[in-house]
Parts: sequence; C-alpha cells; structure tokens
Amino acid sequence: MTIATPIPEGTRVRRVPVPMAMLAELTYRCPLKCPYCSNPLEMAKRSEELSTEDWAEVLRQAAKMGVLHVHFSGGEPAARRDLEELVSVAVEAGLYTNLITSGVGLTEARVKDLSARGLDHVQLSVQGTDAATADLIGGYRGGFEQKMKVAGWIAAEGIPLTVNAVMHRRNLDRTAETIDLAVKLGARRIEVAHTQIHGWAYVNRAALMPTREQVDACTVIVEEARERLKGILVIDYVPPDHHARYPKACMGGWGRVGLNVTPSGKVLPCHAAESIPHLVFDNVKDKPLAWIWAEGAAFNAYRGTDWMPEPCRSCERKEADFGGCRCQAMAYAGDAGLTDPACIKSPHHARMQEMALTEAADVPPDYVYRTM
Ligand code: SF4
Ligand code: FES
Repeated sequence: MTIATPIPEGTRVRRVPVPMAMLAELTYRCPLKCPYCSNPLEMAKRSEELSTEDWAEVLRQAAKMGVLHVHFSGGEPAARRDLEELVSVAVEAGLYTNLITSGVGLTEARVKDLSARGLDHVQLSVQGTDAATADLIGGYRGGFEQKMKVAGWIAAEGIPLTVNAVMHRRNLDRTAETIDLAVKLGARRIEVAHTQIHGWAYVNRAALMPTREQVDACTVIVEEARERLKGILVIDYVPPDHHARYPKACMGGWGRVGLNVTPSGKVLPCHAAESIPHLVFDNVKDKPLAWIWAEGAAFNAYRGTDWMPEPCRSCERKEADFGGCRCQAMAYAGDAGLTDPACIKSPHHARMQEMALTEAADVPPDYVYRTM
C-alpha cells in the first residue's frame, strides 16, 4: 500500500458538503487525440500512474466519505488492464459505477465481463456521425467503426448508455444526425455539449469556435428533438458560454459536489484545475482523500462565496452559479479568482465574445492534436 490511510476516527476537519461524485482518471493514455481534450497540456506518464491496489484504496475511501458515483475516465480508462478489477472494487464498496470511454480498447469479452461485475452505466463519446468526420476530429482512424461495435455490445448486455457528443464548428451542422445516431445506438440519454474552452480546447479555440448561427440552429434542433423524443431519449444540453449572458455553475460549485483524482493521485476540484498555475494539489499518496476534500488548499481556494470579488460578491446569483468557471476565468482573464468572463457583468465579457466572433469568422486552422 503506497497511499495514505483514511482519516482516523475523531480527527477534526472543517464542515464541508459531502461530495456526490468522483471522477477517477485512471490514465492519461488514449488512442484518440481530440483537440478539445480536458486533460492537462502536460500529462503524467504511465510510470507515474497509481497501482491497482492504490486505486482500490481510493475507491474505498471515496465510498466511506459519502461519494455515491464514481466515473471511470481518462484518457481512455480501457487502456488500464485492471479496469474490470477496479469496477468490482467500486461495486463492492457500494458506488454507482459509470464508464466514460471512447470505446477503443474494449472488446466484446471485456464488455461482458464489465457487465457481469456490475458496471451500472456507460458514456460513449461520439465525435461525428460518419467515419471520415469522426476519425478526423478524434485523430484516430477506425475509431468510429469501433464505437458502433461497442454500442452494440453494450446494448446486448442491457447496460444503460449515454452518448457524449462534444459540439463545435466542424460537427454542429450535424446536430440532428447526432441525436438520431444516439437513438439508433439504443442510448437512453445524449449529452449535447458545446465545447468548454480551456486546456487543449483553448489552444484549438479558433478551430473549434462555432458561429452564432450554428449555435442558434443547434438550440432549435435540441428543443424540437426533446419534444419529439420524449420517453425515448433524454437530451442534456450544455449551451456554449461564448454566447451566454450568465455562466453555468461549473462543477456545481468549486469543492461542492465533486472531486477528480488524476492518474498519479493528485486530487483536483475540477478536471481542468491544473490550468490554474498557482494552485497546489494534494496527493492521495500523502493525505487521506477526506482530509484533502475538507482541508486541502486547492479545494478551499474557491469554495463557497467568501473568495468572490465584485461583481459576484454583491450579486443575487452568486449562490446559483458560484461565479461560473474558475478555469475559464484563468484562460480568458488571466486570473482564476475573477468573475467568469461568460458573465455579462464581467469586465472581460465583451472581449471574450469579440474573440469568439472573430475566431468563428476566420477560416479554421488545422487542429493541434492532444499529445502525451
Ligand atoms: Fe454569477 Fe458573478 Fe455574474 Fe453574478 S456577477 S451572475 S455571481 S458570475
Ligand atoms: Fe475548472 Fe470550470 S472547468 S472550474
């Protein structure tokens, strides 16, 4: 055992909300190279990844502190040969298990095994509705064909499926077809999510930025499909921040509902938090997970509302959106402690919108693909 043991009974830690979900990023390794990947620009190598035993202990500690859902993610979690074993540990610990996958690396036998071990749910990413587009965006030839097979194996096992569709200027004109594809694959839910612009997506923002017209058309299609597909498919829609008036409560509020453990054991308040350079992240190798959640400096940096500057401090929406996204404030305003520039009250709002309009009007450059 190389990670810290749980907090001893009776140790005093500050009173904080209980996290509902943990994103377990098992590895940054991934055959795909999506240009909007939420992984950091500098990624931990395989040799730095937590062992099976370490992850098992993290999962048990998470369950003990009240986490209900674990989302196995990456990179591509199927790149870990111990994925099945970790699903078993999570199920035994009483966690609801969700696998977030590109499908590449899964086989029919592995899907059957995961199902037998009690995997509760799968989220399968779809980059496009035809092989040429999907494989160009994902930077991996044959990816689309593999996803279609994987969806069939998931359906055969009866595991509930959500299709994850990240939308941007190259695939937004196929929103209707993307929703149709989810129905065809037997998904119960689709997440139609406009790209969050930070990390790799910030590097690629000119290649990804949609026009206002594309966004508006997408919104209409989603609204119409929601009505038409009632009882067949639930559509979660994540609107783009660049054309919004107010931000979303990113992560449901910093240090409020979820935490993220990286392949090397760092515990982050959000998947992109490493884009905020001054934050220091504790590691499960050194501290118990529950201590990090309650006492860790990174979690307390932007938890609640006390840290907020104006205009958030005196805003009536501050308990609803918690000042928006810290990573987006970092990317666009150069300071994670400022109001999210997606907010109309932010002094950086106009510049962010102007950048989006200019980038969307230009000829899109080639992608800078994610690399390790
Ligand atoms: Fe939200 Fe802050 Fe904007 Fe108010 S000022 S809407 S709290 S981001
Ligand atoms: Fe990090 Fe929004 S992505 S707080």
